[in-house]
Amino acid sequence: MTFELVPHPSPTPEDQIAEILKEPGFGTTYTDHTAVVDWRADGGWQNHRVEAYGDLQLSPASAVLHYAETIFEGLKAYKHDDGSVCTFRPDQNALRFQRSAARMALPQLPVETFVESLEQLLAQDKAWVPDGEGESLYLRPFLFADEPFLGVRPAQTFSYRVIASPAGNIFGGKLRPVKIWVSRDYVRAAPGGTGSAKTGGNYAGSLVAQQQAIEKGCDQVLFLDPLHENAVEELGGMNVFLVRDDNTLITPELTGTILEGITRDSIIQLAKDRGFTIEERRIGLAEWAEGAADGTITEAFACGTAAVVTPIGQLLDGEDTITMQGDFSVTMSLREELLGIQTGKVEDRHGWLHRLA
Ligand code: PLP
Ligand code: COI
Repeated sequence: MTFELVPHPSPTPEDQIAEILKEPGFGTTYTDHTAVVDWRADGGWQNHRVEAYGDLQLSPASAVLHYAETIFEGLKAYKHDDGSVCTFRPDQNALRFQRSAARMALPQLPVETFVESLEQLLAQDKAWVPDGEGESLYLRPFLFADEPFLGVRPAQTFSYRVIASPAGNIFGGKLRPVKIWVSRDYVRAAPGGTGSAKTGGNYAGSLVAQQQAIEKGCDQVLFLDPLHENAVEELGGMNVFLVRDDNTLITPELTGTILEGITRDSIIQLAKDRGFTIEERRIGLAEWAEGAADGTITEAFACGTAAVVTPIGQLLDGEDTITMQGDFSVTMSLREELLGIQTGKVEDRHGWLHRLA
């Protein structure tokens, strides 16, 4: 398929890009271009193009603004020592984008178009990939209903876009163990709901809990399933693992209420390769608290594209604090191995890398 190129008329000068890449932060600056594909009920996917990044013109009646008809993905492009730019398991993001679309009654973008849209964007904006420790170009594909119509039914027109943003640590500054607020007031998802879809509403619904977390001096929220003895679900934007002292990793099973994280899946594989036992099952918060107290659960970590692998130092549950006693050696070595593969410094023995530029 061909993406038409309509280049930016005045791309950002090199010295300005260099200045931005010095301190990338997370999600604050965007590259010069965007990849776009339209979808119409009477003709499907069309008008594949790469054009200048810029503000959109949307009807105030666009369905996305009223009924949140939208899904998104997140993946990262890393600069390798040989000058190439690679991303990680983009086919998996493409397939999850299709599953999210199916759940939200949105059109499903072909996997090849998803992957090609990333390649086409990077062909223009390769200079925007930072190369500092743990830094990358965060790629954000998304799809939304731009049809101006107030009736409640799947829209007839959609816009698929990819934007890209230079990224450092999502938690700001250097890597450090994060502090997590346990939400007892709000749940993220329920059986039969949209928890496993990467759709805007899940994040909108998490923000009031995230606000509480910030008020309590925490970085992120841990959501529970109160119907199953306060089973651990996931963080607002990351999956969770516990490390037990008998070379076991424990993580909540996929039941439809949590996101099927690609980092989660990759960590399971890397840990299996090391001979770890993996338990994917229901974890009550009480088990976490007891294991942290008696020293059997030594470490905990969050994982996701944005977070990579980030140690969880403490959980704040109302007046109670759960503190992890371990040294995060398992967490950090899994992080190093994963980042090593992503940045081309460790052998890609599972064939996870995909060259974009
Ligand atoms: N859970 C949620 C709610 C997320 O938003 C993310 C981020 O994408 C993840 C988990 C981790 O998924 P992945 O590892 O595919 O980035
Ligand atoms: C990601 O890790 O890609 C996420 O989507 C997390 C968050 C920024 C929404």
